Amino acid sequence: MKCLTSDELRQMYLDFFKSKGHAVIKSASLIPENDPTVLFTTAGMHPLVPYLLGETHPAGTRLTDVQKCVRTGDIDEVGDESHCTFFEMLGNWSLGDYFKKEAITWSFEFLTDEKYLGIDKDKLYFSCFAGDEDAPRDTVAYDTWRSLGVAEDHIFFLPKENNWWGPAGITGPCGPDTEMFIDTGKPACGPDCSPACGCGKYLEIWNDVFMEYNKQADGTYVPLEQKNVDTGMGLDRTIAILQGKGSVYETDVFAPIIAKIEELSGKKYEGADEDTRKAFRIVADHVRCATFMIGDERGITPSNVDQGYVLRRLLRRAIRFSGKLGIAEGSLPAIAKVVIDKYAHAYEELRFNENKILAEIAKEEERFQKTITQGLKEFEKTVERLEGDTIDGKSAFRLYDTFGFPIEFTLELAAERGLKVDKEGFDKAFEHHQELSHAGAEQRFKGGLADTSEQTARLHTATHLLNAALRKLLSEDIVQKGSNITAERLRFDFNFPRKVERDELDQLEAYVNEAIAAGLDVIEEEMSVEEAKQQGAMGVFDSKYGDLVKVYTIPGYSKEICGGPHAKNTAELGHFKIKKEQSSSAGVRRIKAVLD
Ligand code: ALA
Repeated sequence: MKCLTSDELRQMYLDFFKSKGHAVIKSASLIPENDPTVLFTTAGMHPLVPYLLGETHPAGTRLTDVQKCVRTGDIDEVGDESHCTFFEMLGNWSLGDYFKKEAITWSFEFLTDEKYLGIDKDKLYFSCFAGDEDAPRDTVAYDTWRSLGVAEDHIFFLPKENNWWGPAGITGPCGPDTEMFIDTGKPACGPDCSPACGCGKYLEIWNDVFMEYNKQADGTYVPLEQKNVDTGMGLDRTIAILQGKGSVYETDVFAPIIAKIEELSGKKYEGADEDTRKAFRIVADHVRCATFMIGDERGITPSNVDQGYVLRRLLRRAIRFSGKLGIAEGSLPAIAKVVIDKYAHAYEELRFNENKILAEIAKEEERFQKTITQGLKEFEKTVERLEGDTIDGKSAFRLYDTFGFPIEFTLELAAERGLKVDKEGFDKAFEHHQELSHAGAEQRFKGGLADTSEQTARLHTATHLLNAALRKLLSEDIVQKGSNITAERLRFDFNFPRKVERDELDQLEAYVNEAIAAGLDVIEEEMSVEEAKQQGAMGVFDSKYGDLVKVYTIPGYSKEICGGPHAKNTAELGHFKIKKEQSSSAGVRRIKAVLD
């Protein structure tokens, strides 16, 4: 067996199929184009669906590539030795060109020939489709393996559950497959041990799919006129086998990333206890995946919906586990830099987007640290108040809704302390909330925002965010010199010695819009002036000693004494735009801004 690096395997695979008449094509984007059925490209075949259905591909009928893929299924499951959210899939395609015989013969040659991977054929096992009412038993695949010298007892016939691939969405091209496994040397788990039992004896490394059918919305399988081959070999996994490693995290792919985490944490991966190793793997995996997501040619940024939300969850989980490793806040970009350096020669978009990747990760880390500091405090308070061992759904929802504390965190923190969470209760509260905000949104559209008090409340909240942005981006010495709000706009006066330039105004807008995009709840509390002062609230402290004042907090952004009214959540604000910047009086500037 050849001991190859990841770069060598990538090149060898492409060269091999080039020698068999395949055109090498570039990896498609991680974000599927024009496809609402999935958030990310999950397999090499995905971007090729139109061609598998008969469209002509400009590069021909034989293609090969290394495709970037993301499978986030259950993010909370990631952390074992072999699952990664991001991976590279080596693939070769026949678009109505060759079929089973050639595909299997080439797979066998690449796996066993000394010129290529040189794996001992006695270590290889295979599975073929057993047949059912939708499609016949795949004797062609079986006979082909046998003709290549594979022993009878090295081939298993398995049902659709195991040996059928696709469609990627609900409908689309699919068909029986034949899978290739390596014997890890572990003992058989019993007389029925097979690649289907999942005991770890057989590790899948390659899958040849024979796309002969198109699955219809009604669940039926219609034979495709054009018969295709779609194959997929996981690069990380194959490398682990070739390098004789028990885990993908010990290969050359992850070596520099793990080394960086060791340097930042002062801990060693090898020999560490399982919790520590798991944290290493989570940080390494998630930062790699996030780097590819942001650095993609159709790159995304963290947000609260769709792909951006998956990215946010990955980054936030990485931040949390890096904290567990004792890594200082703000270190994730340094890890992402290592990922970029490791992959940029194969994926030039990472180098091209390097600054964006590092800046977006840094920003998300900052945003999250603010949320989390507050959320952890609230979690502790919730635990202190707890009678019994279960955090009720309402409290879990309050942590999420009021403090932006992700439910996954509540679940994990609770589990660490042997506490339970009423997840059903949480889900109920969550759904109820969704319904309410949905109804609220509908009303807004109907009324055309006619409700002046609602609009005023939103502008009040925007004013607090603008005040915070000015202090954060221009000068800490800025204080409010005046404020006036109408139904249409806000006006804000503040001390500043010169004109605020357009690029600065852009930054202020971006900062406010970021807070809006974060969907933060605006927390209203009553407290004494002294308490407000102590908490660092901004505002006018001219109330009498002992008087209660209202303090509005936008977690991570602002804390101000104010009479209100305010929006309940920053997401209600829409989009913040600065319309005008001018002088108000000596040393005082005035900004007029709107929400649209
Ligand atoms: N599309 C097949 C897979 O992802 C090759 O396993």
